[in-house]
Amino acid sequence: MKSECIQPAKRLSGGVELPGDKSISHRYAMLSALAEGASELRNFAAARDCHSTLGCLKSLGAGVKVNGSTIQITGHGLHGLKSSWRTLDAENSGTTIRLLSGILSGQSFTTKITGDSSLQKRPMKRVITPLREMGAKIQGRDDNFPPLEIQGGKLRAIHYQMPMASAQLKSAVLLAGLYADGETWVTEPAATRDHTELALQTFGVPVSRQGHTISLKGSGNGHAFALRPVSLDIPGDLSSAVFFIAAASLLPESNLYIGNVGLNPTRSAILDFFQQMGAAITVAHLQSNTGELVGDLSVKGATLKGGVIAGDVVPLLIDELPMLAALGPFTEQGIEIRDASELRVKESDRIAALAENLKRMGAKVEERPDGLRVEGCSAGPVRGADIDPRGDHRIAMAFAVAGLAAKGETRILDPGCAGVSYPNFFGELRRLAQP
Ligand code: S3P
Repeated sequence: MKSECIQPAKRLSGGVELPGDKSISHRYAMLSALAEGASELRNFAAARDCHSTLGCLKSLGAGVKVNGSTIQITGHGLHGLKSSWRTLDAENSGTTIRLLSGILSGQSFTTKITGDSSLQKRPMKRVITPLREMGAKIQGRDDNFPPLEIQGGKLRAIHYQMPMASAQLKSAVLLAGLYADGETWVTEPAATRDHTELALQTFGVPVSRQGHTISLKGSGNGHAFALRPVSLDIPGDLSSAVFFIAAASLLPESNLYIGNVGLNPTRSAILDFFQQMGAAITVAHLQSNTGELVGDLSVKGATLKGGVIAGDVVPLLIDELPMLAALGPFTEQGIEIRDASELRVKESDRIAALAENLKRMGAKVEERPDGLRVEGCSAGPVRGADIDPRGDHRIAMAFAVAGLAAKGETRILDPGCAGVSYPNFFGELRRLAQP
């Protein structure tokens, strides 16, 4: 099996710009396919996941042209998608299958959608339940797992109280709500990323928010409307930037500049947490780009205190928890993660994958049902090891960063899995890390 060798480094230096944000790219692509006319999306995510979304949209009849990171998508209106004779393949992407399930529920045809072996183990009941309540007929393996068969139709608006804080679930209901015959309301137990709400507004659909409840009026029952095509730049992906922020913070002589990165407040809790830990991060040139905040970051090496991540902040930095856990052994007080059982149903069981690989590096870890406790540097130094990322991009990238500060060589097995969100991650890490 291929592997990537990581050697200890002293600093991360230079400048980097990240490919477009994965969450925003999915949403802009899907809404472009429902708009009337041609949209142009620049700095579209290089992430394999977002290209899975493009593949599905193409199969559904949208015009998709890829020219490097500039994507043109021609939609034929809210009711312009066509039935696909082939089963759609969301590959590794939970966002693709869950958000498309919402859209497919409003179509006048039946669609089959599946994914790779990891996606086929991820729970879909969370979207099946509200979409059925709205009127879609959905079948899945064991009534929970892909492949899903979605028979769309006329939808009714619902008031939905989400049982877990998931932006994918919220988005699936709101996207189905576009087709419903009245006002769809979704209440989240805690705030999650709001890219769907912002994107809908950018494409011309009014969305309201009161506290944790989001609502929109559907196009059913004589309230027809059209989404307008857009031409815009997608901010760099903060969740990818975080691996470089962590590496630059860990290595004492670092001086790193990250340009044009998305700083949406429902995503930037990770920066607040880094700053609380003592990281030296400054933000400059903050501006709004069609509703999404964008700015530049500079990061210098620092001593990291560590800390506890629990409660309502968890959904706001859910994708950053692997990186934070892998930093644990290098912090003064260690890292403790609670209330994060959702990590067990991501691209891998991330709690188990983190505990196993941290132990391989000699860290002291206690695995718990909803998180883990990783002891800090007083538990002793960690050493390079062979890391099995279990096919999970964020585990691979998190341990590559830990490897820079460990003693001896670290080997990341199956490094290609990083391409799910960041195909050139290892190339950029090699360019920026200096011995
Ligand atoms: C995402 C939402 C989060 C996140 C995922 C992307 C999105 O998942 O973990 O990587 O784009 O909406 P959940 O909605 O399952 O929390």
